[in-house]
Amino acid sequence: MNDELLRYRAEFPILENTTYLISNSLGAMPRGVYDALKTYADRWATRGVRAWEEGWWTLAGEVGNEIGELMNAPKASVSTHLNVTTCQAVIASCFDFSGKRSKIVYSDMNFPSVMYFWEAQRPLGARVHMVASDDGVTVPTERLLEAIDETTLLVPVSHVLFRSSYINDARAIVEKAHKVGAHVVLDTFQSLGSVPVDVQALNVHFCCGGVLKWLCGGPGVAYLYIRPDLGAKLQPKFTGWSAHQDPFAFDIGPIHYADPPFRFMNGTPNVPALEAARPGLKIISEIGVERIREKSAKQTSRLIQLAKERGWRVNTPLDPKKRGGTVSIDIPHSHEVCRELLKRNVLVDWRPRAGVRMSPHFYNADCELDRAVAAVEEILGESRSHV
Ligand SMILES: Cc1ncc(COP(=O)(O)O)c(C=O)c1O
Repeated sequence: MNDELLRYRAEFPILENTTYLISNSLGAMPRGVYDALKTYADRWATRGVRAWEEGWWTLAGEVGNEIGELMNAPKASVSTHLNVTTCQAVIASCFDFSGKRSKIVYSDMNFPSVMYFWEAQRPLGARVHMVASDDGVTVPTERLLEAIDETTLLVPVSHVLFRSSYINDARAIVEKAHKVGAHVVLDTFQSLGSVPVDVQALNVHFCCGGVLKWLCGGPGVAYLYIRPDLGAKLQPKFTGWSAHQDPFAFDIGPIHYADPPFRFMNGTPNVPALEAARPGLKIISEIGVERIREKSAKQTSRLIQLAKERGWRVNTPLDPKKRGGTVSIDIPHSHEVCRELLKRNVLVDWRPRAGVRMSPHFYNADCELDRAVAAVEEILGESRSHV
């Protein structure tokens, strides 16, 4: 197959000596990160404290815009944070849970950190309603929609599920929320960079995720999109001097909020992580998420076919339209098999109730999928011969 995207392989050093199928967990590091971090260190070393006014202070907003472009967010609508859990905390701090509208609706297929956060808001009055999956792969959309009612405040749901890669029906969820006056917080950690996201077309209220997986941006940077009309009026209680109109006035007393995106930030920004995120964002933007999606659908189909041919159970939707970039394969003895794969430099991971997760990205060649599956067969063969 003539795969044009393979020319990007040279930009990712780890591809030289591993079969890297783990972009659902940590995207490969672009070579450009070496330079980005060297420039950061040089600036710190030579410009010292002057670096703040020479770019560091405004960097969080610039990187927010770069991420925003990938999801068709208007300029200045995306703030950056440490992680998704922090993004949820910023959103929660904009609301009051003491009134009638205090219900939080989500599925049990959400990422656990997000659930831990919302469960912990119960003492403040949040009423958490968790909708259970029937099959451990999909979300029962009808039941989720039914649960979103006039008392619902927020609906924090994953766009693509981390366990099964099922794509939630974000459009239906947002529509229902609009009907009853609830707000959707769409977690696009497992979609943006591999599945197209358009926050304006969806008319979603909030959207958050991190850059370390499909955006190849490394740990330490998460993004939070807030629809501009909400961004203009919400007042986060989790705040700090970055959110002040004039932080360097060091005013005492209550905050006078800046405009978005800084309105939703709080303390000193994570400058090295922001710098490290940029080379990956640049590559993803150059390629375009649509092209990545096209390739991903083909490669995940290939993986599913290879798994099915071997009689392995697939815990991922078979319909490519309903599946993100990961294939979860419930291979016999999957946890042990995963450990053996890692020893052989086939980088994948294992999750309970999912199996081995394999996630090809734009930089993977088809032969790497075949190699990973052949390695699994070899491991299973070896373990059989030991019995
Ligand atoms: C859908 C989803 N949300 C959130 C997270 C992580 O949350 P945080 O950034 O708070 O660590 C992950 C995985 O790491 C995820 O897959």
